[in-house]
Amino acid sequence: MSTFYIKGGTTLNGSVTIPSAKNAILPILACSIMCGDVVTIKSISRFSDVDYMVKILSELGCITEFQDDNLIIDPRPSDKYCIPEEYTKKIRSSIFMLGPLVARFGKAKVAYPGGCNIGSRPIDLHIKGLQSLNVKIEERHGFIYCEAKNIVGGEVHLDFPSVGATENIMMASVFGKGTTKIYNAAKEPEIEDLQNFINAMGGKVKGAGTSTIEVVGVNKLGGGEYTPISDRIIAGTYMIACASSGGKIELNNTNYTHNTALISKLKQSGCNIKLKNDTIYIEVGHRLKSISLLETLPYPGFPTDLQSQMLILQTISKGSSMIIENLFETRFKIFTELKKMGADIIVKDRMAFVNGVKTLYGASVTAPDLRSGAGLVIAGICADGYTTINDIYHIDRGYLSIEKDLNSLGADITRT
Ligand code: UD1
Repeated sequence: MSTFYIKGGTTLNGSVTIPSAKNAILPILACSIMCGDVVTIKSISRFSDVDYMVKILSELGCITEFQDDNLIIDPRPSDKYCIPEEYTKKIRSSIFMLGPLVARFGKAKVAYPGGCNIGSRPIDLHIKGLQSLNVKIEERHGFIYCEAKNIVGGEVHLDFPSVGATENIMMASVFGKGTTKIYNAAKEPEIEDLQNFINAMGGKVKGAGTSTIEVVGVNKLGGGEYTPISDRIIAGTYMIACASSGGKIELNNTNYTHNTALISKLKQSGCNIKLKNDTIYIEVGHRLKSISLLETLPYPGFPTDLQSQMLILQTISKGSSMIIENLFETRFKIFTELKKMGADIIVKDRMAFVNGVKTLYGASVTAPDLRSGAGLVIAGICADGYTTINDIYHIDRGYLSIEKDLNSLGADITRT
């Protein structure tokens, strides 16, 4: 298994272009199986999770082909509605296929999903939402079976604004009879992007980005081209990397309105940030102040996917900080690794208390999950000496080539 070997103590300077977003691409790929003609996803980023999702589409009978950075999908030959465990264990987003499969075939059989090791991640909201649309669901032998002769539009009230459940219900209702309303929907930018994709293919969805989404059923979707939005979590990770190491970087192909929660916290800490068109400029020349309280929340609150990276920044900032993780119960696994690097952290349940230290020290650590892995890369760049990060396959699930990007800014990271 690959590892990263990082020589710490470098500052970051230069510019990087941010790729299209994993969390936008995955539901769009799932939705493509509902299309009645060829779909081209442009400027696609080949994260390992994206490659798994493309394998799932092929397994279901779609013809898929990468041409440069475009992915061409012909969903018409697809004739299967079952996703075996070998795929779903690898990628949690396989759960997104429930809605599209039942919409297209009237049936779906999907093994329970796997994915990042960050808590229990139930799927009850997906299931209840689909049931509200007249989908019959049974759970047997590790599989979820869905069946619906007709999907019927209805009202779905989500108990919590789950991103995946909102997307699944939105897709399932595209061919529903009548109108579906999803209340307390998640408002993440990737949901708006899925709406834009569905509408570009001939669907009728509105309201994504607000807490009420309305889907008017149509008989079919066509084909066409679509370019997903840029990855706000990668942009955020690189901003935090610069805030932690010091330096001056420029991130192109971004939408800063998707990162306002982070930008506000980084400005409070003392970062100099400028925003112009699709570019974010960040400059840091001194040790930053700690943020006294940081709490993760559904969008537009502070994203859980940037919590680990922000935790690293707090370990070396001046002062103390409390971080509360409201989304996923076990997202502080990184803390035992950070202790090895000299961080002063106490974790109790979903809270971390951090006293900033002047220096972290290189150590041999293991990435517990995707975003914590990215956090450890930042820690390695800032640390005194050499850091080895094991299990970096987690990081590859959501970063195209984190070492190439950060090395182009002056980091010293080797993949072995
Ligand atoms: C998506 C993102 C992930 C991000 C998360 C929260 C993708 C591919 N992944 O994951 O990167 O960290 O949003 O922003 O887009 N929940 C339930 N029952 C359900 C579904 C969810 O209780 O049926 C709970 C979860 O346990 C969690 C919370 O809702 O506590 C948020 O989960 P959700 O928004 O569904 O996250 P994902 O869609 O899995």
